[in-house]
Amino acid sequence: MYKNILEVKNLEVSVNQSELKIVKGISFNVREGEVLAIVGESGSGKSVTAKVLMGLLSRDTYNIDGSVQLENKDLTKMNEATYRKVRGNDIAMIFQEPMTSLNPVLTIGSQLKEAITRNNPNISRKQLTQEAIRFLEMVQIPNPKMRLKQYPFEMSGGMRQRILIAMALVGDPKILIADEPTTALDVTVQADIIKLLIHLQNKLNMSILFISHDLGVVSQIANRVLVMYSGDFIELGETKNILNNPLHPYTEGLIESIPSLYQKGEILNSIPGQIPGLAEGNHMKGCLFYNRCSKRLPSCKEAVQEVHTEERIVHCNLYAQNKKGVKV
Ligand SMILES: Nc1ncnc2c1ncn2[C@@H]1O[C@H](COP(=O)(O)OP(=O)(O)OP(=O)(O)O)[C@@H](O)[C@H]1O
Ligand SMILES: [Mg+2]
Repeated sequence: MYKNILEVKNLEVSVNQSELKIVKGISFNVREGEVLAIVGESGSGKSVTAKVLMGLLSRDTYNIDGSVQLENKDLTKMNEATYRKVRGNDIAMIFQEPMTSLNPVLTIGSQLKEAITRNNPNISRKQLTQEAIRFLEMVQIPNPKMRLKQYPFEMSGGMRQRILIAMALVGDPKILIADEPTTALDVTVQADIIKLLIHLQNKLNMSILFISHDLGVVSQIANRVLVMYSGDFIELGETKNILNNPLHPYTEGLIESIPSLYQKGEILNSIPGQIPGLAEGNHMKGCLFYNRCSKRLPSCKEAVQEVHTEERIVHCNLYAQNKKGVKV
């Protein structure tokens, strides 16, 4: 049996004033020591979901329903003072743009040391420097003593992302949420950061929730994948099963549009049509992918069935009749 670190049940997020639903009742678990990826097109609600888990969405703007259970605490019921203890210690996050997440006028050393002190207020000055060096070594930054004295602009994008990973690790989190951590980086640096994350995940035995729009990147790191579309749950399963045998037509489309699967010069497939806008999506009763789906059934317009097999959960009426997740 797997031990779950985080259990998300029927999570719904809407914008207070407009009542637009951004996340539409999704459920998933993050297991101990795994990398779970959330993948989906731009606007599918990935970052909003991540921000709920980090307690970063203001209740003045957003209404959150459902539960997010971290061990025996429900994060959606927690006040800000308690959340401050969870954030950084139990869950930490790294973001897409490593420049904007660092303060440009402070050295790397002072920013990293501040994070370490926040976590361990009684640390001596000597120990603090040693700890800062240890964390830079952990994220494989060469010459860490010299790097501590540098400013963010003196570093490459990949280095800055390593610094942010180091800062996220100071509280020894159980889960690291990585929201598009490699999207702003070029391909070779992207691969190095992925390798580093896999190394750290193994070494520290933490779980990672890896968010990306790129199934190609996800396939390099994730044990399991949750596919989202327009705030809705599409399909969840082991990465290799999803890639070899996608059940949902949307997942099939995503796989066909992975660039690395195509020969140079060949035209890349893309899914025709666009993700529905929030207002449009809110008026749709059945499957939100209906308008773009080449395999739609009349029933898909009315309601979507969840089909749960041994290795997969898929929300698609194509499989609802046989209940076995077998392709029809
Ligand atoms: N306060 C808000 N008011 C209105 N719409 C909002 C608000 N906050 C988020 N949204 C909308 O919610 C949707 C989901 O946003 P989110 O940032 O989670 O997408 P994403 O999947 O992370 O996309 P990307 O791949 O571009 O990062 C978007 O359509 C966004 O415009
Ligand atoms: Mg996002």
